[in-house]
Order: sequence, then structure tokens, then C-alpha cells
Amino acid sequence: MGDSGCDPTDLQNNEDLCKCLLERISNLENRNLELRERMRQMESEKRYVETQKIRYEREMRKLRSEIEQLRSPPLVVGEIIDVIDNNRVIVRSSAGPRFLVRVSQFIEPKDLKAGSRCTLNQQSLALIEVLPQNYDPQVYGMELEERPDAVYSDIGGLENEIREVKEAVELPLTRPELFEKVGITPPKGVLLYGPPGTGKTLLARAVAHETNAYFLRVVGSELVQKYIGEGARLVRELFELAKDKAPTIIFIDEIDAVGAHRTESITSGDREVQRTLMQLLAGMDGFDARGDVKIIGATNRIDILDPALLRPGRFDRIIEIPLPDLEGRLSILKIHTKGMNLSSEIDLRAVARDTEGRNGADLHAICMEAGMFAIRDERTEITQEDFVRAMQKVSNGFVRPTLKNTFGEMFA
Ligand SMILES: Nc1ncnc2c1ncn2[C@@H]1O[C@H](COP(=O)(O)OP(=O)(O)OP(=O)(O)O)[C@@H](O)[C@H]1O
Ligand SMILES: [Mg+2]
Repeated sequence: MGDSGCDPTDLQNNEDLCKCLLERISNLENRNLELRERMRQMESEKRYVETQKIRYEREMRKLRSEIEQLRSPPLVVGEIIDVIDNNRVIVRSSAGPRFLVRVSQFIEPKDLKAGSRCTLNQQSLALIEVLPQNYDPQVYGMELEERPDAVYSDIGGLENEIREVKEAVELPLTRPELFEKVGITPPKGVLLYGPPGTGKTLLARAVAHETNAYFLRVVGSELVQKYIGEGARLVRELFELAKDKAPTIIFIDEIDAVGAHRTESITSGDREVQRTLMQLLAGMDGFDARGDVKIIGATNRIDILDPALLRPGRFDRIIEIPLPDLEGRLSILKIHTKGMNLSSEIDLRAVARDTEGRNGADLHAICMEAGMFAIRDERTEITQEDFVRAMQKVSNGFVRPTLKNTFGEMFA
């Protein structure tokens, strides 16, 4: 074969080679793309695993510290008796004896107060932390967490009484400067008294709703406890919590359960109730009239209350909540029939006229019964006839006994 000229077989071979090479290149490129894609996937997987690792490590550290905390020896609870200086205090451990101990550097010197509870290391009895003051859980139970839904406009016929309560309770809390300018001390508290069902509790609930003060509600009988001194302690803690959370309104409903006239009594139960009352009197003396704690008391037996409770300086303002008069009854009826489907011919004034001597709770019951009569007759509208039947039903249902004069008697 000569080397001159072009050999057709060579040409053929070259072309094949080129084709083959091109094919390989494209294959390699595809492969490259595939590998890159895999690399990206692997990288994102790696990132995910790394974050998982960090998370597990953090969890492990948390669990380790939790184990350490659980394994750490318990701290002794004690009480600070005297503060010598910022580094040394005298404490009494719960076991009894007193010790002079060192204070942890993490405690603020201002928190060191004689009388506060604290925790101590078991071996060195060094002061580790100062605990917050504790109150009886029962006292916390008196706190009103949810605002009651009653408002002043839900109370009928007591405009003057509402004004008096507002002046005595709300005004000193919201605008104390008025009293300072005039130079008088505002009342420390108000006592609401009157026959049952006239709206005393309702009025206090409305005060709780309308003011932003911290509201503590206690029923007198809750303060009467089984063991000696318990009731008095409860009253003391109640006042302490009130001062702590000021501005506060303390509402003592049915105060006659603890506030009854003190007598030469013989039973130990009576004596315990008297001790509770004395603590209540001392508590009321203990805070400043210009301060931020106000007391509302409610009772329907003012005749048996101890005169010491009624003297100025304790319940300065004694407000009678009487049975409603004609206009009062009409406005109470209007309030309770507000959402009711009344027929147009109804004359509420006539109902008010026929309910002489009835209280707000009776009127509420009459409105409800009238509605029940309409439901019984399968009507959706309430007629005058329903009210007449309801008045008869509510009056015939029970006989209200008159209160006996038991002045000087004590409940235990
Ligand atoms: N002045 C009033 N206006 C509107 N509703 C009233 C009024 N007085 C009483 N009522 C109705 O009667 C119900 C009972 O009233 P409340 O509980 O305030 O009576 P009370 O004076 O505290 O009685 P007690 O001395 O027996 O505790 C209230 O829930 C309300 O429906
Ligand atoms: Mg009441």
C-alpha cells in the first residue's frame, strides 16, 4: 500500500472513531451529571445528619444535667433569723438549732431578710437560695381568676348604693390624689347589709368586674377552721397576700359567720371563732386607709355583728341594701326581661306594683317562671297572664319565716 492519496478505509475508521469518542464523551457527561446529582443528595443528607447529631447531643446534655440534678442531695429548708452582713447570716434549720452560715455569692444582699425561708446545703449549711413567701393554698383559692360577668347596669334600683360603694372602694384606688387634696382619709371598707336576695353579692361581683384591682373573695364560714389558730393564720395570710398584690379588694361575704358579737362563751368552738374575729379586726387596723387594700363585707344579720367591726376605722361606711321599692322593682324586672320575648301588651309596672315586699331574687324567679309557663303552653311569646301565674307560683311555693331576734348569739 502506498502512503500517497487518501485511503477510503482509513477515512471510514476515523469517522467511526470520532463517533465512538463522541458517544463516550456524551456518556461520560451524563455520568458526570448523575454523579453530581448524587453528590448533592449526599451533601444534603450529611447536613441533615449533622443537625440531627447536634440535636441529640443537646438532648443528651439536658438529660445528663437532669440526672445530675436528680442525684444531687436535697437541700435543708430553714429560716433566716438574723443578717450579720452580706456574707454571713444566722439561720435556723428545720431541725431546730441555729447556725451562723455563709451566703452563696449569687444571692442579692437585698433579698436577705430576717424571717424569710431559705434553702441550705446539707453539709456546710451554706445559704443557697432565698425562697419566696408561701401562703396557704386556701388563701390562693380565694383569688378570683376569672372576672365575674356582672356589671353595674345589671343591678336594678340601687343607684345610690352603687354610688356610695364606688366612692368608698373604687375612687381611693383609682384617684387617691382627690382625698389627699381634700385632706380626708377614705373609708377602709364598706359593709353591705340588708335582707336576703337584694343584690349584695351581685354588687360586689360587679365591683370585681368593673375595677382592675386584684380581687379576693372569701365566705365568712371558710375562715372558721377546725384547729386552734388556723382561722387566725388564714386571716393573717389573706391580708398579707392582699398587701402583696395591692391594689386589692377583699370581699368577705356572709361576714356574720366570723363577725358575730363576742360573748362570755363556753365552747372552744366559739372561742376559736372569736380568735379569728380578733385577727380580722387587727388585720383591718394593720393597713393604711390611704393604702391600696379595701374591704367589702356583706351580711344579712347586721344585728348580730360585733360592735368593734362596725366602729369607724373598720367598716367606715355601712350601706343598707333594702328591699326594692316600686321603681326599683320595675328596673329589676326590666333587667331580667331584657333578653326575653315579651308580648307587646305586657305591663311591667303592673307586675312591679303587685310584687310589693319581694326581693330581687324573687323577681328574677318570677321572670324565669313566666318564661316556663310560655314554654309549657308551647308559645314563644310571654304574656301578662304568664306573669300573673308566675307571681302566684313564686309566692305560694314557700313561706318566708321572719328572722328571730337572736342578738348576742354566736355561731360556731
Ligand atoms: N337589685 C337587683 N338587680 C338585679 N337583680 C337582682 C337584684 N337583687 C337581686 N337580684 C337577683 O337575685 C340574685 C341573688 O342576689 P344576691 O346573691 O346578690 O343576693 P344577696 O343580697 O347576696 O343575698 P344573701 O344575703 O342571701 O346572700 C342575683 O343573682 C340576681 O339575679
Ligand atoms: Mg349574698
